[in-house]
Parts: sequence; C-alpha cells; structure tokens
Amino acid sequence: MSPPALRGIRLTHGFGATPVLRGADLVVHRGEVVAVTGPSGSGKSTLLHCLAGILRPDDGEVWLGADRIDGWSEARRTALRGSRLGFVFQFGQLLPELPAVENVALPLMLGGVRRGDAVARAAAWFPALGLDGLEQRRPGQLSGGQEQRVAIARALVTDPEVVFADEPTGALDTETGRVLVDLLIGLAARTGTGLVIVTHDADVAARCHRVIVLRDGRTDPAAVHAVVTGGPR
Ligand SMILES: Nc1ncnc2c1ncn2[C@@H]1O[C@H](COP(=O)(O)OP(=O)(O)OP(=O)(O)O)[C@@H](O)[C@H]1O
Ligand SMILES: [Mg+2]
Repeated sequence: MSPPALRGIRLTHGFGATPVLRGADLVVHRGEVVAVTGPSGSGKSTLLHCLAGILRPDDGEVWLGADRIDGWSEARRTALRGSRLGFVFQFGQLLPELPAVENVALPLMLGGVRRGDAVARAAAWFPALGLDGLEQRRPGQLSGGQEQRVAIARALVTDPEVVFADEPTGALDTETGRVLVDLLIGLAARTGTGLVIVTHDADVAARCHRVIVLRDGRTDPAAVHAVVTGGPR
C-alpha cells in the first residue's frame, strides 16, 4: 500500500522556553480533507508550519509520502512549497505588483517552467475558480474573496500532494467563506490532493472527512475519533 500523503508524528515545537506543540500527530491521505480546530493559541498555525516545512519541529517526524522531510535544509523545504506542497494563508499573500495570473504562475516559474507555459497553466485555473476575466487584475483590484481564490489557484497550480490552508476564510464574511471552502474541498477531491484546513467554523469542519482538535499542544485522541461522517458535501 502506498504511504499516506503526509504524516506528522509526535511533533513538538516551542518558541524560546514556551512549548507550543507537545506531541501532535496528523495523517492525511491523498484526496482526504482534514480539519484542524482548537482554541486560539493552541498551536494550529505552528502545527501547519511544521508539517509544511516552514518551521522545523524541535522533535518528531514529518513524512511527505516516502520522504522524511523534517531534517531537510531550509532551501530544500522551501522548494517543496513550490512543488509538492501548497499553502493558502489567511490573507495578504499575493504580490501586489503582479497581475492575478502571474501570481498564480509564480510557483511554476520558480520551479523552472517557462514563463509562457506557466502563465497558460495558471490561466487554466481561472474559470473553475469563478475568476474568468480577472486574470490581469492586480490583487488590490480584487475583492477579498477573489484574492483568496487566486491564492487557492496558486497553491494548486503545481499539482501538489498536499495543500494546507490556515483559516483561508478568516478575513471573509461567513457565507463567502463557506463558498470558498466548498470550492477548495471540491478541487482537492478532483485533483486527489490531500487537504489540511484550519478553521473555527463548525460548519466548515462538518464538510471535512476528519476533524483534529488541538488542545494544550496535543492532538486530542478522543476528538480524533469523533469523526464527522459523510465527508465533503
Ligand atoms: N514566532 C513566534 N514567536 C513566539 N511565540 C510564538 C510565535 N508564533 C506563535 N507563538 C506562540 O505560540 C502559541 C501558538 O500559536 P499559533 O499561532 O500556532 O496558534 P493558533 O492555534 O494558530 O492560534 P489562532 O487561532 O489565534 O491563529 C501562541 O501562544 C503564540 O503566542
Ligand atoms: Mg493560527
């Protein structure tokens, strides 16, 4: 059997003397959507950053497919986020001086794809995201919801194995946010990518295959098994 898309095992991490993660576990398979919830300050962003190679955990293991990546150099981990991993932040992640389509094309170009090919591949995402006709707009000329759709396209354009979304709807109104999450879940299902999404919205969590609750820096095993049935709607 092929390994899970991504595994975090007994992850610990602290800032200075303050422990934040104290042994957190998370597994996501291809095509699976996992929600991460927990109180503010419980370490959700820290967990995602460790899993995505933005931070190196103090202890524990991160496996991307068959590769153990937590020991990789910063440069190699950064390169992963332009190829095998995608990340959608809460807001403010687009380059304001670049048109939307070039923002999406950027990870491809950084990965060595020729500019024309990268822009064409980026543009192909726009209709599915309801962004038809907005390719040449700069981020400042887009609504918050449109900006987040561009950010989603940018995270998916490299056909990654896993996409992380850290409260991607945090800056949006509830309804716009839910539409956006449905879009993200639908695209993950269609492309077979694993999706790990941080959310405070119970309705969003209910749309995911599994919900993981972080408390005191640990993933709550009881809560892990409180699986929301039904999966994405
Ligand atoms: N760079 C940093 N330096 C020092 N402390 C940090 C740093 N980043 C996070 N922390 C602390 O680590 C703890 C966990 O932060 P984290 O951002 O992971 O929480 P969170 O669960 O994502 O919270 P929220 O729901 O508010 O986004 C908090 O107490 C925070 O103050
Ligand atoms: Mg956070």
